[in-house]
Amino acid sequence: MSKNIAIITGASSGIGKAFLEEIVKERGAYGCVPFEEIWAVARREDKIVETKALLGEDRIVPIKADLSSPEDLSALADRMASEKPVIGLLVNCAGMGMKGAVEDLPAQTIEDTLDVNCTSLAKLTRICLPYMISKTPIWTMDNSPRIINIASSAGFLPQPGFAAYAASKSFVISFSRALYYELIDYNVVVTTVCPGPVKTDFQRKATGGVQTDFTGFRQYVVADPVKLAKAAIKASRSGRQMLVYGFSQKALHVAAKIIPTSWILFIEKAFMPVQKASAEVVEEGSIPYVPEERRELESGASVEGIPAAESEEAAASEDEDKETVSVSEPEVSI
Ligand SMILES: NC(=O)c1ccc[n+]([C@@H]2O[C@H](COP(=O)([O-])OP(=O)(O)OC[C@H]3O[C@@H](n4cnc5c(N)ncnc54)[C@H](OP(=O)(O)O)[C@@H]3O)[C@@H](O)[C@H]2O)c1
Repeated sequence: MSKNIAIITGASSGIGKAFLEEIVKERGAYGCVPFEEIWAVARREDKIVETKALLGEDRIVPIKADLSSPEDLSALADRMASEKPVIGLLVNCAGMGMKGAVEDLPAQTIEDTLDVNCTSLAKLTRICLPYMISKTPIWTMDNSPRIINIASSAGFLPQPGFAAYAASKSFVISFSRALYYELIDYNVVVTTVCPGPVKTDFQRKATGGVQTDFTGFRQYVVADPVKLAKAAIKASRSGRQMLVYGFSQKALHVAAKIIPTSWILFIEKAFMPVQKASAEVVEEGSIPYVPEERRELESGASVEGIPAAESEEAAASEDEDKETVSVSEPEVSI
């Protein structure tokens, strides 16, 4: 007999953990509840085991998976194929982002951001759909399966200094909203959740440990992960396609629709300079991170496809450019 399950990615910390704590309390919602199993997915399985012990919940099934790995996604797909569960709820919450100028970030970090935030979210959703869409329409709207995709208000606009992350969240918003209309005929509801800053470990990770908390305007609008999870579940239950969480984020959402993007970017550039520190800590310990190609250029070694002499020329011309800039700077400021 198929089990009725919920799946939560990113369940080891922050918002995903808050979802896990809420979903175990849920009674009478999605599909046949209480869920017989709650598959909690993340790389740090030990954190999920801790939560499971703390909640005393045998229904939680910790699943260790790196969602940026196609092999781990395939393993999840294989598990579903063999267990053939009925999935009443999928919460796609796993996510990552690293702040810094694109040129300063390791290419791998950008790839991981897109893999975790976009590719795995879309692929896992696709993998789960056969276990959510009922061939015979047994679901009514009240108890039909739900998908909750955690996007971000960062997805409303491009963000210099957080470019790949903001773009990845635009993908989540667009993908999820389209999916809502594809699945509504099957009574499967897709809710896109767009929070602003939330009090989790996210900011510390995104800044490579430089900032543990949000600063500036953001510190006044930081949301609580448990309240956010509760609001998202409520929105999903009531069939909403989008939850923009908090007044400030709603205002941002409206502003992003009516003010030309170039104006907003101009203001962003003027008042929120791109932070360059993040990659220094996480990627290279305390040694400032310098992309490998640039390091080679600076040391005079040849870079793949560029002979050493050309590299030196390039470095020299870069120096010239710098000088030109420093000479012309006072003129500009006048
Ligand atoms: N905090 C905010 O200000 C904020 C604002 C808007 C949106 N969000 C979004 O909310 C979601 C949750 O973030 P959070 O704030 O709760 O941050 P968090 O505490 O850092 O949680 C991120 C979660 O994603 C998981 N994850 C990251 N990379 C993974 C990978 N390769 N494979 C599997 N799991 C992975 C982490 O688990 P492991 O490390 O154990 O794998 C962790 O459980 C993210 O999608 C984020 O973009 C956050």
